[in-house]
Amino acid sequence: TERIIIEDTENPEAELLIKPADIIRKGGLVAFPTETVYGLGGNALNEEAAGKIYAAKGRPSDNPLIAHIGDFDDLPPLVSAIPEAGKKLMKAFWPGPLTLIFPKSGLVPYGTTGGLDTVAVRMPVDPVARALIRLAGVPVAAPSANTSGRPSPTTADHVWQDMNGKIDMIVDGGAVGIGVESTIIDVSGDGPVILRPGAITQEMASAVLGIEVPLDPAIVSGPLKADVRPKAPGMKYKHYAPKAELTLVEGDAEAVIETINRLAEEKLTQGLRVGIICTEETKEAYHAGVVRSMGIRTREETIAHNLYGVLREFDDLEADVIFSESFSRNHLGQAIMNRLTKAAGYHVIKV
Ligand code: TXA
Ligand code: MG
Repeated sequence: TERIIIEDTENPEAELLIKPADIIRKGGLVAFPTETVYGLGGNALNEEAAGKIYAAKGRPSDNPLIAHIGDFDDLPPLVSAIPEAGKKLMKAFWPGPLTLIFPKSGLVPYGTTGGLDTVAVRMPVDPVARALIRLAGVPVAAPSANTSGRPSPTTADHVWQDMNGKIDMIVDGGAVGIGVESTIIDVSGDGPVILRPGAITQEMASAVLGIEVPLDPAIVSGPLKADVRPKAPGMKYKHYAPKAELTLVEGDAEAVIETINRLAEEKLTQGLRVGIICTEETKEAYHAGVVRSMGIRTREETIAHNLYGVLREFDDLEADVIFSESFSRNHLGQAIMNRLTKAAGYHVIKV
């Protein structure tokens, strides 16, 4: 796996991106940075490339891929209709961390959509991603560039850990900005529905559409029940999973600290390796195990930015158990808590 480094990530040199763009167009795989997480890119119109992506990730092939485009003009060939809600959301949030689900056109192979008649499309704002997609000249199918079931990669080193030897190239554009995957909104049905929360928040989408955009019930209900199948097939898998057993502790700040310290000490005396995930505001209050701050609680973007990196760090430290503080479920907190509760297999202690 070749690795190239982009120094000027705001104005990437086209020269550097010609080779990776060629690889993608010709059916190979290239990991690249986006504003959300690193993606594992292949030609979205080439079923064989989609097959290679599934193989590299070890991902079930019924889990559809997002087609990334560079310009608004790239959308119409991929879809059979652009519903009004989709138009408004595109206008407000593209390019950016928003994926929209449309009815697909005949051009998009079922190998890319996991057999579905809909296609997920996103236009990233990251300059490296955008330049690469434009140069490739084809829509770029790109799931997060992690091994299936591991936390999504937010640096090129994370990608290297999971993908070295399995793909053709990694384009290193430094750490990503947002740190959690794009918001997914399905506009292909009767009304828009949020299938995955992200940096384009429920509040932001609702303000643009003038209605309360609902969350897919499967996201809200927590532990997956047989009767609520998530509409984004990827949301049904235990995703973002750290190797350690993760438990979230939710409630009044003092009680959370007290509970985490007590549980951590209990596990330490059992001889287990213990990790604690907290915030800048609280990190001095913990005194057992390995303590990592995810960021500043009052600035949720810092928490999102560090979330997957901290989970990966505990993988590297081979922690057996991790206890984590919880966050508000409003605004960006909705995405943070969605990823954390899934990583915890919905194991939440309320205090
Ligand atoms: O931020 C992101 O979206 C990143 C970067 C690389 O752009 N990509 C990403 O892709 O997160 P991935 O494959 O890890 O997640 C895509 C999600 C999956 O949960 C998948 O099931 C869902 O999107 N999805 C894709 N196509 C769909 C469709 N037609 N209908 C419903 N859900 C779909
Ligand atoms: Mg993923």
